[in-house]
Parts: sequence; C-alpha cells; structure tokens
Amino acid sequence: MSQYFEWKSDYETGDSTVDEQHQYLFKLANRIKSSGASECKPIIMELYQYTRVHFKAEEEIMAEFKYPALDDHKKLHVNLISTLNNLSDNYVETKNSRDDLLAIFGNWIINHILNEDLRFANFVASLED
Ligand SMILES: [Fe+2]
Ligand SMILES: [Fe+2]
Repeated sequence: MSQYFEWKSDYETGDSTVDEQHQYLFKLANRIKSSGASECKPIIMELYQYTRVHFKAEEEIMAEFKYPALDDHKKLHVNLISTLNNLSDNYVETKNSRDDLLAIFGNWIINHILNEDLRFANFVASLED
C-alpha cells in the first residue's frame, strides 16, 4: 500500500534521533489515514503526545549545539502544539475532519522539516567544516 505521508531522503537532517522521530510522526499520520474516522482518535492523541516528545528532544539537541535561532524555533513548535491541540479537541468522527487534520499537520511538518529543521542541520554541518 502506498503511504499517504511518504518519507523522502530530502527530509533527512543527519541527526539519527531527529530523523527517527520525524519518521515515527509520518508513521502515526499514515496510521490515522488508514484507520476509520471513528477509530483514529487514540492515534490522534498519540500524534499530539509524540509531537511534544519530539519537539522537546529536538530543542535539547539544539541547545547542546548552542543553536542561535533556538528561541524562534521553539515559538514555531509552540504554535503547532496549539494548532494540534485545537484540531484534536474539535475533532469530530468524520472522514473530512480526519483528512483536514492530516492535511494541516502534514503541510506544517513537511514545511517545518524542510525549512526549519534543515536550517539547524546546515548550522551543525557548518560547525564541522
Ligand atoms: Fe523543529
Ligand atoms: Fe522536528
């Protein structure tokens, strides 16, 4: 079965913890997509919780590297957590509600990885030059 959220090598940051966690977020999103609208609420809750776990871990890694843009990055994370919180609170058990949640989450996470998490990866790479 083709995956709704397909992992691409373009998304790799080179940090194995971050990359594994991003892949797990994709896996959860795919599980939501493939489960019925009335059965996916627990997986939506897991996605919400795991996103928090991931953001905390990523921020700790960024702090270790003294990433100068950490404060701004944290604000972006806070915004997504509050969006996800609203989406899961307002979730109604319909296919449309499930697909809206996935579309918003999917757009956000892919843009965030490509534009923000990879900016951090480039910063780390520049230290190693
Ligand atoms: Fe991030
Ligand atoms: Fe991330």
